[in-house]
Amino acid sequence: MVKIGKVFFKDLEFEVFNEVYEPREDSYMAAEYLYSKEWSGKDVLDMGTGTGFLGIICSKKGGNVDAVDVNPGSIKNARKNAELNNAKLNVFESYLFDEISKKYDAILFNAPYLPVEKENLSEEEKAWAGGKKGHEKIVEFLDLAPEYLKKKGVIILVFSSLSGEDTIKDKIDEKGLESTVLNEKKVEWEKLLLMKCSKF
Ligand SMILES: C[S@@+](CC[C@H](N)C(=O)[O-])C[C@H]1O[C@@H](n2cnc3c(N)ncnc32)[C@H](O)[C@@H]1O
Repeated sequence: MVKIGKVFFKDLEFEVFNEVYEPREDSYMAAEYLYSKEWSGKDVLDMGTGTGFLGIICSKKGGNVDAVDVNPGSIKNARKNAELNNAKLNVFESYLFDEISKKYDAILFNAPYLPVEKENLSEEEKAWAGGKKGHEKIVEFLDLAPEYLKKKGVIILVFSSLSGEDTIKDKIDEKGLESTVLNEKKVEWEKLLLMKCSKF
């Protein structure tokens, strides 16, 4: 894999490899929230870790973090960034929860959330493509995620006003989760949403 850039958050640095999602506004919105919280002793899953950005932030705040991605390039990239930042991160390849067998206090997912018509996607496109309507990948995730949450566990989810907000909220209700919007940010052509879904 080839390094194509570098981004920063507070005193942390992240290399970005080719075909791996470069942290953007959505990543930073989640990062600011995660950084404001204490994660000591918490079991955290960073779903779709990309460069390892969110998982590494939680790990530096004391979390016990597993980080997964379907893109093999992300696995290498996240491991490299964990090393760069002296963070403990258990990184492995998994399609959603396929390789997961434990329960977490928090599951983070800055999801692929944009609508896309075409079907054969590159790794780079898979990082943001949520399905024909934009919410398919999130709905697939939400169908499974509660099973991997401890009692009182939370999902921290990022999506967009272009993802079919109502369908996502209906799925959250159907799964018996309670949702709170933690932050909203208007960017050029969409509104980003940071949502917490709690299991009781
Ligand atoms: C929007 S990017 C977020 C990356 C990183 N968490 C961040 O905030 O910068 C979404 C990530 O989800 C990964 N992904 C897409 N589909 C997935 C799946 N089915 N299972 C696991 N990861 C997936 C992509 O490869 C990509 O790294």
